[in-house]
Amino acid sequence: MESQLPEAIRQRIESCGVVAVLIIERVQDAVPVAQALLDGGVTAMELTLRTPVAIDALRVIRQEVPDMLAGIGTILTPQQVQEVVTAGASFGVSPGTNPRVIQEAQQAGLPFAPGVATPSDVEVALELGCRELKFFPAEPSGGLPYLKSMAAPYFHLGVKFIPLGGVNTNNLETYLGDPCIAAVGGSWLAPPARIAAQDFDGIREQAQTAAAKVQAIRQGLTA
Ligand code: 3PG
Repeated sequence: MESQLPEAIRQRIESCGVVAVLIIERVQDAVPVAQALLDGGVTAMELTLRTPVAIDALRVIRQEVPDMLAGIGTILTPQQVQEVVTAGASFGVSPGTNPRVIQEAQQAGLPFAPGVATPSDVEVALELGCRELKFFPAEPSGGLPYLKSMAAPYFHLGVKFIPLGGVNTNNLETYLGDPCIAAVGGSWLAPPARIAAQDFDGIREQAQTAAAKVQAIRQGLTA
């Protein structure tokens, strides 16, 4: 069984280029944040299971902002997988490479991108059929130079990475030009403090800035 992201989801994440990582404390913030990100051109998000309202937030976003590709992150146990599937997550993400979580996701039909930081992590994920991997924590681990060296033995297998952890508008350029990168992501697009302040205009502007930068980088690559 495989847990690769289906082509349609992979394409949406790659074409957007940035995935917003969200820590939602109040469910009433979920829809305005998702709408602000979407209005700014960020069409994919990972809602983290770090607060009790994350699943409810996913449900309302699916209902009220259906154009947002909404996945769930910080999936740490097999038990959480079923809850995530029932709530209608488009994909799942974990910070680490837990084979039991990955296998549960496969059995439940949840497209899954596990987190990796070492060659051993990558090999566990590959053996379980994953081909899109979250590189976490990207910046503290050594950024693109570390990733290119660490993952060089696996590139010929078609594996792609989504770096998260310390990525932001100022350094996303260092990743996005490389063919092994599917997209980047992080909490800088909608940081908890900005959500708490209900600064949805600020979130939209941050998303616009990031989306414009992705476009400029991609245009530069094809020019
Ligand atoms: C994650 O869960 O992917 C990370 O917390 C994102 O890292 P960041 O907060 O540094 O963007």
